[in-house]
Amino acid sequence: MSTEPRRRAPYGVEYARIEVPDLRATADFLVYHVGLQLEQHNEEYAFLRADIEHHSIELVSAPGREAAETTAVGFSVESTAVLDDLHDRVTAAGLEVLPLADRMKGLCERGFAVRDPNGLVVELFTEFTEYAEPPLLELRPVDLVHPFLATDKYDESLEFYTKVLGFQTSDYVGDVTVFLRGEDRYHHSLALQRNKQFYVAHLCFTMKSFDHVMRARARALYKKVPIASDLVNHSASTSIAFYLFDPVHGPRYELCDGHRVLTVEEHETTHRARRMALDPRNIDVWRAAADDWGRF
Ligand SMILES: [Fe+2]
Repeated sequence: MSTEPRRRAPYGVEYARIEVPDLRATADFLVYHVGLQLEQHNEEYAFLRADIEHHSIELVSAPGREAAETTAVGFSVESTAVLDDLHDRVTAAGLEVLPLADRMKGLCERGFAVRDPNGLVVELFTEFTEYAEPPLLELRPVDLVHPFLATDKYDESLEFYTKVLGFQTSDYVGDVTVFLRGEDRYHHSLALQRNKQFYVAHLCFTMKSFDHVMRARARALYKKVPIASDLVNHSASTSIAFYLFDPVHGPRYELCDGHRVLTVEEHETTHRARRMALDPRNIDVWRAAADDWGRF
């Protein structure tokens, strides 16, 4: 009996593209509060990076907007063979294959884009341009780990991300939240939450240490930036994090330490997605009781 080899998922998230009302103000926010380094920019756009990857955030100037809106996420793919296979799956699913955004075309080997069930543009590409060295900054994220999508099309989105793009399920909380992983083996390289409306709820960056999470938290307190959810100890991914939120600067930015990375063996064979009850302690193990939802 032969077993079909698993069709591979994208590797991991590299960037989000965010339209913002005040490009300069958001770039300053991301530099000071998230620790990104501002690279190439002009009046229309700005690239900011965390580590050696070309950028983690692309800001696009949208002066007409009152709040920021995340319009695309970009996932790297390990090889052209996997990219071609993803292209085949997208086509077979009857979905339209779109070109990459113009600014991405010179920043990778090749790729394409597809819209998810909510219309979010998902860009897929190989060989993302990189820098020789990370920014010479001590307090910065070391990686963009996942986008977290709230969606009014939860079931369709779960189908799209697992069946078409090949993400694997890592854990469920009720039938409300699902954590999905790509080939980077983060416990979640993407997460979906059942909601009444669609929005990119947060972007998670991992910092070098818990000490650095606390230093970023101190900066938020010092500048009185709203902390949408203060320190939580995530049961599913084992990370400790807090969330910044100012709607003019993008979705919530989750700054974390200790996000679980599955071993190759767990990723390929042994990990089974848990079905956890919808209880705040299954999201944050530091919650006191089953009705302790107040600080989310
Ligand atoms: Fe998260």
